[in-house]
Amino acid sequence: SEVDIDASAYEAGEHESFMRKEILEQPTSSQAVLRGRLDERFGTAHLGGLDMDARDLRAVRRVKILGCGSAYYVGQMGAALIEELARIPADAEAASEFRYRDPVIEPDTLYVAVSQSGETIDTLLAVQEVRRKGGRCVGLVNVVGSAIARECDGGIYLHAGPEVAVASTKALTNMFLGFALLALQLGRTRDLSIADGKRLVAGLERLPAQIEEVLAGEADLVEVAHQLAEARSLFFIGRVRGFPVAREGAQKFKEISYRHAEAYQTSELKHGPLALIDPEVPTVALVPRDELTERNIGALHEIDARQGPLVVITHAEVDLGEVRARRIDVPRNEPELDPILLTIPLQLLAYHAAQHLGHDIDKPRNLAKSVTVE
Ligand code: AGP
Repeated sequence: SEVDIDASAYEAGEHESFMRKEILEQPTSSQAVLRGRLDERFGTAHLGGLDMDARDLRAVRRVKILGCGSAYYVGQMGAALIEELARIPADAEAASEFRYRDPVIEPDTLYVAVSQSGETIDTLLAVQEVRRKGGRCVGLVNVVGSAIARECDGGIYLHAGPEVAVASTKALTNMFLGFALLALQLGRTRDLSIADGKRLVAGLERLPAQIEEVLAGEADLVEVAHQLAEARSLFFIGRVRGFPVAREGAQKFKEISYRHAEAYQTSELKHGPLALIDPEVPTVALVPRDELTERNIGALHEIDARQGPLVVITHAEVDLGEVRARRIDVPRNEPELDPILLTIPLQLLAYHAAQHLGHDIDKPRNLAKSVTVE
């Protein structure tokens, strides 16, 4: 209604769009999901809303994460965190597919529904399917009292504040942090040492300031975003922890710039996508400092040799050697938590590309903020 539009315009304040406002809020909004939930002394997290005691947490044999779109991609980041920290097999699946394939629901699997709005119909119906079959489903939800939050057995509210732009940013960051808290608590009821727990608690405490550091580099990204906007098609690549980041980067880019953006695993380059690389097709590569850095750089050489333009999101310690690339350095945290810092520049690239193209950033064509009908 007219009234809503006026109210929205007021709230965006001096920002030209809600998306930019929400991107810039992240140093603050990310603190809210952590507040009161970190335990420095025992290197763990306290998530009272889960309504699960240590015995319940110990009984979890698998974790299955369900969400749609970007929530599904962050779910993949969350699954990796849970496997790494708690050594529990974990995976994420698109809720929109899960509920149509007559899934086997197991009593010792913890199902986790992840949703900003808490109203996404596919995710809601997936939760109902799990619970109908006697499974335990907890929620990672932003909107308090929403349908998914009410349907779950317990959960973690994300406290990102209202998110208006269709392209989700600050809620996704808090989803990642919510998964980190869950992984930490699950880990500390098992074999994650107190030393590792403390290392991760300290890492989480450092993150909001590091997000701010990445955002402070915004001006340096504008020109490269404009160049990417000129391409009809582009790739986002990453490996292991970096792959869901690449998927989320491609998602954000296509949603608001309407460019074809595709994510694939850097390791799969030689198995097909390399055929598409030429000077017209840029690649945005995630190359963190980790055990795969050298292999990732090998792939960059393959792209460079075919004159594929490269933008590399990386850490200052990484030496790209002879590779011709526009590099964007982000601060390092603990390796498990680095994915979220690698995600922030991708939000800015998508935003500035869409702005350059003159698109309606907050309300991209054909999309709704939450998909509440089948
Ligand atoms: C994110 O940028 C997208 N607009 C979209 O993929 C979104 O994440 C998805 O529709 C899920 O929404 P939800 O988190 O409200 O459930």
